[in-house]
Amino acid sequence: MCYKKLSLSQIAYTEEDRLSLFSVYKDMKQLGYGQYYLIQDNSPDYIQRLRDSMPIFDGSYSIHRTTDNSNQLARIHTDNRPAGLNIPINDCGAGCDTVFYNPSTLTRIIIPNPSMSDSYLSNNPIEECRFTLTMDSAYLLNTHYPHARVQTSSNDRLFLSMNLCVTYEEALEYFH
Ligand SMILES: [Fe+2]
Repeated sequence: MCYKKLSLSQIAYTEEDRLSLFSVYKDMKQLGYGQYYLIQDNSPDYIQRLRDSMPIFDGSYSIHRTTDNSNQLARIHTDNRPAGLNIPINDCGAGCDTVFYNPSTLTRIIIPNPSMSDSYLSNNPIEECRFTLTMDSAYLLNTHYPHARVQTSSNDRLFLSMNLCVTYEEALEYFH
C-alpha cells in the first residue's frame, strides 16, 4: 500500500551511474526539502535514460541531501506528486527511515512550503509501515499517503527522487 523495494537492475542503475550523479550533486546544500529540477538536455545521462526508457515519469526530479532531524517534530506530509522513485546516491542506510502513518489519525494543516506539499498534525500518529533506503536498492513510494522522514544518523545522505506522472498502483503494475 505504501512502498515497494526494487533492485538496482530493474532500473538499470550501475555503479558508474551512481558515481556520475555523485560528482554532479556532491556539493549540494542541505535543505529541509528536495531541490527540484526539470529534466533537460544537460541533465545527467542516467536521469535522461530513465525518462526515455520508462513512461511513468513526469519530466522532473528532486535531489535530497538530508541530515539528523531527531530533535524536531517529524513533518508528516503528502507530496504534490502521486508517487516517487527514490534512488540512493551516497551514504544511504540505517539511521534514516521513511515512515507512513494512518491517515485517520491525522489532521491536515496549512503550512506554506516550497514543495507545495500538504502537512498533517497529530497528537498520536499511528505508524503503518516504514522503509530504509539503502545503497543496494531503490524504493517506489506512494507519496499521496502521509509520510515523514525520521533520521537519527548524521550520514551525508544523498539520493535522487524521480517524480512520477502515474499513480502508485499504476507504477506497481509497471514494475510487477
Ligand atoms: Fe514526501
